[in-house]
Amino acid sequence: MTSRHFLTLQDVSEDELRGLLLEASRMKSDRSRAQNVLKGKTVALIFQKPSMRTRVACEVAVQQLAGSVIYLGKEDIQLGQREPIKDVARVISRYVDGVVVRMFAHREVEEFARYATVPVINGLSDSAHPCQAVADLLTIQEQMGRLRGVRLAYIGDGNNVLHSLMNGCAMLGVNLAVATPTRYRPDRGIWEQARQSARKHGGSLRWEEDPREAARGAQVVYTDVWISMGQERERAARRQAFGRYQLNPTLLKRASVDCRIMHCLPAHRGEEITEEVMESSGSVIFDQAENRLHVHKAILVFLMTKRKKHTR
Ligand code: CP
Ligand code: NVA
Repeated sequence: MTSRHFLTLQDVSEDELRGLLLEASRMKSDRSRAQNVLKGKTVALIFQKPSMRTRVACEVAVQQLAGSVIYLGKEDIQLGQREPIKDVARVISRYVDGVVVRMFAHREVEEFARYATVPVINGLSDSAHPCQAVADLLTIQEQMGRLRGVRLAYIGDGNNVLHSLMNGCAMLGVNLAVATPTRYRPDRGIWEQARQSARKHGGSLRWEEDPREAARGAQVVYTDVWISMGQERERAARRQAFGRYQLNPTLLKRASVDCRIMHCLPAHRGEEITEEVMESSGSVIFDQAENRLHVHKAILVFLMTKRKKHTR
């Protein structure tokens, strides 16, 4: 039996992505919506890295949909050490109805999904964070009243969060300007795919080395940590390379006066963002975090109820 998975935003069509945003906003305005759809179903969370938002939002989402959750942390099943990923994927599929995984290498997430016979949701890998991106798009849509044509600047590391944001923005016509140090540009393949998709959907994607250029006229400015989970040994080099890429009041003078500030959290105040910017009136960071819950509900309903086909 094959299942639909959600490992990157490329696993959904443009219409399906719009559908997820619509369903998430309906979930947000009506907490009792779809309240029994996971009744009798179980979702396993297999997390190799720490998490606050993804874990709690997923667990609460499943509970609000009347399902039950099993959390398996790093030490519980010792994925890939005590037994191979492909065995865990096949066994757990016999017990539960869906799995959310948070792993390191993206190819391990793909391997897990290849062997699983129930839907697999990527709750963050080294190269993608698709659930985050759907929540980000929902937040931008709420704030700006639209997505098409919105001028978004992402300033910082070319990482998992950016990769998924690029995919999503490209599909929905957002004009995204990215500023990273040359050495920390996003993955070339994901960049090229997103560029083509942006062109096709009437949006744009450009890269700047200078964060001031990316911030110029931006209506929304987004950042993420400079040191992602698993990169702790690169801390010193990264802090040095990213110094100019901090969201601070001086940089934000380049942006639109009422620009919104976004961050997927957790934030490192004094590194990628200052306390003042985090706490400023333009910050929509906590709305963005709340939206993780509504988006997880929409994704679970999408994958775990009707079987749908998607041809790219
Ligand atoms: N933004 C996000 O995914 O947060 P967690 O790492 O706490 O899940
Ligand atoms: N880029 C960060 C995102 C955390 C939600 C990381 O991978 O650690």
